[in-house]
Amino acid sequence: MVSAALRPVETISPRHASRRMEPGRTEIELRDVSVSYAAGKEGVKTVLSKLNLKVAAGEFVVVLGETGCGKSTLLRLILGQEFPTAGAVEVDSKSVTCIDARCGYVPQKYSLFPDRTVLGNVMYGPENAKGRYLSRLRPSFFAFRRKLRAEAQAHLVRMGLRAQDMNKYPHQLSGGMQQRVAIAQALLMNPPVLLLDEAFSALDPSTRASLQEQLRQVWLESKPTVVFVTHNTSEALLLGTRLILLRRHSDGRAGETNLALDMQIPPSTLPLSMRARSVEFQELLEQVKELAYKSSSMNTDDADSPVDEVTPA
Ligand SMILES: Nc1ncnc2c1ncn2[C@@H]1O[C@H](COP(=O)(O)OP(=O)(O)OP(=O)(O)O)[C@@H](O)[C@H]1O
Ligand SMILES: [Mg+2]
Repeated sequence: MVSAALRPVETISPRHASRRMEPGRTEIELRDVSVSYAAGKEGVKTVLSKLNLKVAAGEFVVVLGETGCGKSTLLRLILGQEFPTAGAVEVDSKSVTCIDARCGYVPQKYSLFPDRTVLGNVMYGPENAKGRYLSRLRPSFFAFRRKLRAEAQAHLVRMGLRAQDMNKYPHQLSGGMQQRVAIAQALLMNPPVLLLDEAFSALDPSTRASLQEQLRQVWLESKPTVVFVTHNTSEALLLGTRLILLRRHSDGRAGETNLALDMQIPPSTLPLSMRARSVEFQELLEQVKELAYKSSSMNTDDADSPVDEVTPA
């Protein structure tokens, strides 16, 4: 069991590998997307407005913005858990009409099955998709399950869980450990699209830094298209290839987009911890924080900072 858990992750075969490598292919597209909710006496509350976004396969898009500006809503639209009031959302050139198996998702409020162990939770989705009832008695299912188990263990180890954690139940785990199980769950299927909503928010700075490195490694190895929501500007600039800044929709600017900034992040081959300490990075960080501050202070009803001042990785 321990040796399987420590199997190197590199041996996990990247599914959909050739498709995801097609250069320049658009993976995610939002055209003139708006999302509004009925809001009682106030009439209608617009969260996203006139959002246009084209994400190429293999991009690592980080999304920043003040609380309530629609970051989680944006991820749910791409996932197919929510639909726009106006406009179109496409993944892999197909209109999003339901939750798509192409997307691995770590929600802001994740939940684990309380009656399943760590391993059982991570394996649940693929196991269920593969077979139910009598088909589970076939020898091919046992072989599938063995392989899946080894892959699940490898992802959990990668997320910093130990062999002795695999058979624990969620109530025996800290919040940060539960969050890492949820990330392993999303990584297990090696999805072409990874949607991560504040996936590292429950982690202490050193675990967070280590998981940032792991996520970067996953991205370098199998090049999924990533949309990563965070309040941590430093984390965003370290991980992403492109930064999107949303500002909260203001009724005073009805019809305007709330996409405040869309910029490419200069690439770097340095380990993240070294990069975080470089002068160029610190300058970039200051510039983006300034832009984020200006963009949020343009909102008359603004009350919150767009970013958490969390220790850089
Ligand atoms: N189902 C819903 N009905 C009504 N309003 C909603 C619904 N879902 C979201 N909202 C509102 O939409 C706005 C944007 O929510 P969203 O969760 O996308 O923000 P966010 O940018 O992720 O914020 P945070 O940084 O706090 O996570 C919020 O004001 C929220 O109250
Ligand atoms: Mg959110």
